[in-house]
Amino acid sequence: MLLKEKYGVWALITGASAGIGEEFAKRFASENINLILVARREEKLNKLAAELKTKNDIEVVSAPVDLSEPNFIVKLQSYIGDREISILVNNAGFGYNGEFQKAELKNQIDMISVNCLAPTIITHNILQGMVNRKKGAIIFLGSLVGYQPTPFTTSYSATKAFNLFMGEGLWYELKKYNIDVLALNPGGTKTEFQKVANTSAGPYPRDVSQVVDTALKHLGKRMSVVDGFMNKVLSIIPRFITRRMTVLTAGKIRKTYFT
Ligand SMILES: NC(=O)c1ccc[n+]([C@@H]2O[C@H](COP(=O)([O-])OP(=O)(O)OC[C@H]3O[C@@H](n4cnc5c(N)ncnc54)[C@H](OP(=O)(O)O)[C@@H]3O)[C@@H](O)[C@H]2O)c1
Repeated sequence: MLLKEKYGVWALITGASAGIGEEFAKRFASENINLILVARREEKLNKLAAELKTKNDIEVVSAPVDLSEPNFIVKLQSYIGDREISILVNNAGFGYNGEFQKAELKNQIDMISVNCLAPTIITHNILQGMVNRKKGAIIFLGSLVGYQPTPFTTSYSATKAFNLFMGEGLWYELKKYNIDVLALNPGGTKTEFQKVANTSAGPYPRDVSQVVDTALKHLGKRMSVVDGFMNKVLSIIPRFITRRMTVLTAGKIRKTYFT
């Protein structure tokens, strides 16, 4: 069944100005789903909106909103208006690379705000409408590093574990309202993420199109998914060794990511 028929006509994507979020936007647009595109860089959102409107018969709203700001939801709500959001992709996020105590505290607080607080607030705001209509879809962006504490990106990995737990927990809670929830967990994927976090995409980099394929294939079928075969294997290893061994191994691997 087409996404539009199953869920409805409006999707809201956070972090739509680049990378995985931009790819979600293109994919939904090709299925004639109207879009609310959220990110800080207005000119990138406007350019993407214009491109998608030219190619597809859809409405697109650019919503330049900084999700790290305390009252961002008021501004975001003004762009949403009375539109019924049927697909929500909680995708905006960023990371860092290095020792926790050397990271700037403001950057850490912003990261936790964008990666954890924003998906919580936006989902809580939008969910009631989905519950009333008894349909909808929500995607949370976790990560391979959310499957175990990952030294040298410790707090980022904690934010991604948060999204993994949100996705899986809400998958169960919202089943009775016919709302599909998926925690999507990419490994290293070629986007602007690496530049922002000063890191590398690792030995098995994936394309955004592969990540979005994985998401759309498993939405409505699974509560969580890891993108890519090698990433899947890596995500399963912690089940067979001690937590101490998991952290020691993750720390050793992570050290090699310093650029
Ligand atoms: N790429 C990877 O290797 C990888 C692996 C695992 C998980 N992930 C997750 O995938 C998601 C998407 O990342 P990506 O790889 O596509 O990275 P990306 O290319 O850097 O895109 C990140 C998006 O988030 C937006 N964003 C960042 N800070 C924001 C803020 N304060 N307010 C509003 N929007 C903000 C950015 O837009 P503006 O700068 O315009 O605001 C951009 O659109 C993230 O949650 C990330 O944790 C990525």
